[in-house]
Amino acid sequence: LQTPGAVFFIFGATGDLARRKLFPAIYSLYREGKLGEDFAVIGVARRPRTEEEFRQDLLESIQEFSRYKAEENEEWSSFAQHFEYKSLDINNVDGFRELLQQTEVLEAKYDIPGNRLFYLALAPELFGSVSFNLKEGGMLGGSGWNRLVIEKPFGYDLQSAEELNKQIREVFEEEEVYRIDHYLGKEMVQNIEVIRFANAFFEPVWNNKHIANIQITLGETVGVEERGGYYDHSGALRDMGQNHMLQMLTMIAMEPPSRLLPEDIRDEKVKVLRSLRPFDTHEEVRTQVVRGQYTEGEYKGKHLPGYRQEDKVDPNSTTETFFAARVLVDNFRWAGVPFYIRTGKRLPVKTTEIVVEFKGVPTNVYLGQKHALEPNLLVIRVNPMEGIYIKINAKKPGSESEIEPLAMDFCQSCMVGINSPEAYESLLQDAVQGDSTYFTRWDEVATAWSFIDKIAAAWKESPDTLEQYPAGTWGPEGANKLVEQDGFQWWPVN
Ligand code: BG6
Repeated sequence: LQTPGAVFFIFGATGDLARRKLFPAIYSLYREGKLGEDFAVIGVARRPRTEEEFRQDLLESIQEFSRYKAEENEEWSSFAQHFEYKSLDINNVDGFRELLQQTEVLEAKYDIPGNRLFYLALAPELFGSVSFNLKEGGMLGGSGWNRLVIEKPFGYDLQSAEELNKQIREVFEEEEVYRIDHYLGKEMVQNIEVIRFANAFFEPVWNNKHIANIQITLGETVGVEERGGYYDHSGALRDMGQNHMLQMLTMIAMEPPSRLLPEDIRDEKVKVLRSLRPFDTHEEVRTQVVRGQYTEGEYKGKHLPGYRQEDKVDPNSTTETFFAARVLVDNFRWAGVPFYIRTGKRLPVKTTEIVVEFKGVPTNVYLGQKHALEPNLLVIRVNPMEGIYIKINAKKPGSESEIEPLAMDFCQSCMVGINSPEAYESLLQDAVQGDSTYFTRWDEVATAWSFIDKIAAAWKESPDTLEQYPAGTWGPEGANKLVEQDGFQWWPVN
């Protein structure tokens, strides 16, 4: 399906996100024929850059990060000619007027029907002024649609998110705002819906009668790299918890929507967020949420620095680089089922996995009650390995009553010929097509913040709750206790 013609404005075109994700995504869409010839991209940033320099940056970014190889040939030139650069001070409206002229020339050249997609790969503090100047500079007066795509973090807490939203909404309607959570663009996160709603195996047992607990793990081996300045202010809870972790939880827990329309799906997701049991007291936070920070460690024979030694991190920082929580969804379907979520930097494996642990059968008729059977598991592997894994019990071949767990493993990412689109490709394509299903609506963002803010507030008052873990391990001891207290364990990932 080819997308409608549009001009893409990439604000922050000289930044990391554009280089690593956005340019490669546009290139893949082009290579797959999802973008026709009626598109143009204007890279916008403050720094001066000639067209040649910009196209050279583009080539290098694609050569380094794209899943399609690029070479300087005819195909490349016909792709690259759609790209132009504009150096702009985003606080100066005159620059936006010049941008308008440049846009109109490109729209005429490529026969683009006035559709404009503004992608702000910028710090959120700048969203308000850019939106305002887009309007002032006449950029929103075209003959097609205007859409604003914005990156996380959407605010620092509920209050700042509300302020940010207010600024944006002075210029754009909610339907025109596409808030990115790139986890929603991942193939396997989108697949959760299909696994649940298209399989008679799962939906009838997808509730507290049959599910014992659900575990969502998002582990990263990297530390904070060169993002210490941002991260030390944010921490794992805000960086991953408010968005990716809660979004995956909503996909797992939501009711089937009556229709597969964006608003119906997002309505169901927000209902889950509203059903999360809030942590009303600091004591609840202390017993339900664990936070940790990595210290020096060893990983694969390599010495790793502690978080406090990282560049641009306060040497006395109490920012968490790991958190785990026991989250309850207070509704009929999920009453009593713990959702354990955990995420951290400098863990031993880069992985995102969702494990659904089923309740056992009433008794072990083979060996008697004392011998517990292994629980059935459904594992959804999101990233970087993609697939589904099911663990069931079966008879050990040749034995009379011995039972052993058997794994049925479908590895999507191992299959030859399957080259899943990157999250940013799907999301860009959706935004141009006007499909907001996998973008977060304002009420989702706000509800998620109210849940997260209570945890952050409690932590602020009690710095002693910060545990430590050596880099390269699975987080602090408290995370294990959290699950063990309920008689469960974290299932090993991968
Ligand atoms: C981002 C966070 O949203 O997600 C990063 O800001 C994190 O800290 C990244 O590394 C993880 O994304 P992925 O797709 O690599 O798992």
